[in-house]
Amino acid sequence: MFPTHRPRRLRTTPALRRLVSETTVEPRQLILPMFVKEGAAEPVPIASMPGVVQHTRESLRKAAVEAVQAGVGGLMLYGVPQTRDAVGSGATDPDGILNVALRDLRVELGDDTVLMSDCCLDEFTDHGHCGVLDEHGGVDNDATLKLYADMAVEQARAGAHMVGPSGMMDGQIGVIREALDEAGFVDTAILAYTAKYASAFYGPFREAVESQLKGDRKTYQQDPANAREALRELSLDLAEGADVVMVKPGLPYLDVVRAVAEVSEVPVAAYQVSGEYAMVEAAAANGWLDRERTILETLTSIRRAGADTVLTYWAVEASRWLRP
Ligand code: PBG
Repeated sequence: MFPTHRPRRLRTTPALRRLVSETTVEPRQLILPMFVKEGAAEPVPIASMPGVVQHTRESLRKAAVEAVQAGVGGLMLYGVPQTRDAVGSGATDPDGILNVALRDLRVELGDDTVLMSDCCLDEFTDHGHCGVLDEHGGVDNDATLKLYADMAVEQARAGAHMVGPSGMMDGQIGVIREALDEAGFVDTAILAYTAKYASAFYGPFREAVESQLKGDRKTYQQDPANAREALRELSLDLAEGADVVMVKPGLPYLDVVRAVAEVSEVPVAAYQVSGEYAMVEAAAANGWLDRERTILETLTSIRRAGADTVLTYWAVEASRWLRP
């Protein structure tokens, strides 16, 4: 007549719930993505990402120091150049905005944090694609690899501890590893964007980097319908030398995070992307969601799925909430 089994028993008091809570989120597990805009005199707000800005070199430095003081585990840097061209020259130029800003941060922070850089051409190309185009307008995989290799070496030279190839070109990890090793950067790590989906959730990011893209990235990013190819990409990235592998976006792809985490031999990151941020901010601004509880729940869910680290635009704020 009465239940024999009462799972509610362990939920009776806050102390009991605390005792049996499985998943933790710690500041050191959070990575803050940051944008730096070439030639900006003032930080520029990003309308679709309330609270996030395109930094000036100076404001970036200050915000990076604050993030490290808040306890975040790392910083992922994106550059917004003033001029763009077909081959994304600003990406490989040692004086390009991303490399200059990396140098600023490495001088400012030394080894106090893990400095990461987006190793992709899309912010620097006038067509907005992640690679260079062939004569038919398609993205030329192998011609792009050469530029990724040069870009990675410049980023390592500028002070990146870890480069993040996000372009989904075949062979990108192997080519970058070889180039870094040849240039003597054997300890510069690679955060591989392993399973990156052709997602609508990147919308606000494209505003953040002033993307010139028309059309989509479906010839190189994965189909949201597919889980299997994430494991194939994982095997390839591991074989090519990835130090950390990433799944992106986060919340809509927790099954993929779980599948990758179950078999990966290296740490797994998940990227809570711009659209995930914008959704929660918009709902919270309307009073439809409790902002803090929702943010912490999403981070807990991504960790519970198996991610060791999470890239999130809330990294600093969440770190302040989570600090003991
Ligand atoms: C491309 C890149 C993208 C993001 C990170 N790197 C956008 C894209 O693939 O179009 C998206 C990140 C976000 O939405 O927060 N280099």
